[in-house]
Amino acid sequence: MEDRVRQDFPIDWEEDNYVSRREFFKFLTLASGGLAIGSATMAVWSKFPREERRFDPMMIAEGKSMSPGSAVSFNYPRMHDLCILIRKPNGEYVAYSRRCTHLSCPVNYEPDNDRLYCPCHNGAFAVDDGRVLQGPPPHPLPRILLEERSGEIWAVGVTLKEEA
Ligand code: FES
Repeated sequence: MEDRVRQDFPIDWEEDNYVSRREFFKFLTLASGGLAIGSATMAVWSKFPREERRFDPMMIAEGKSMSPGSAVSFNYPRMHDLCILIRKPNGEYVAYSRRCTHLSCPVNYEPDNDRLYCPCHNGAFAVDDGRVLQGPPPHPLPRILLEERSGEIWAVGVTLKEEA
């Protein structure tokens, strides 16, 4: 039976195993090297300071129109950049991009859990600073820079990257 198989599939089995094993270890070495380089890059990247960029100011809401523990969605700085303004229970305002840093699903404010939650893969971010609390997101949420002007809340820029 084995001779028949070797006749139908004329492969040098000894050499085939040898090459496969060698190729496999070569793959493992390259994969581990790639992972090590990727981890080192992420570690260095996370040490860079925040980068803030200013954009044209845009009024988001009248401060008194939002009760503590509430949120409103808005778009900034471009029409397709979905963001969320949150009035924390202590009255302070914070705003973030609503795009989850994992695969861009929109995050939702959960006042009862004091977090921004991404339902796609169970990711969560802190309301205070946008840092990752759980799940697969690799970075904090980009923060929207705010200014209070005569009782109105204005978006004035974006923090493109925050420390992990
Ligand atoms: S897209 Fe948000 S956790 Fe995956």
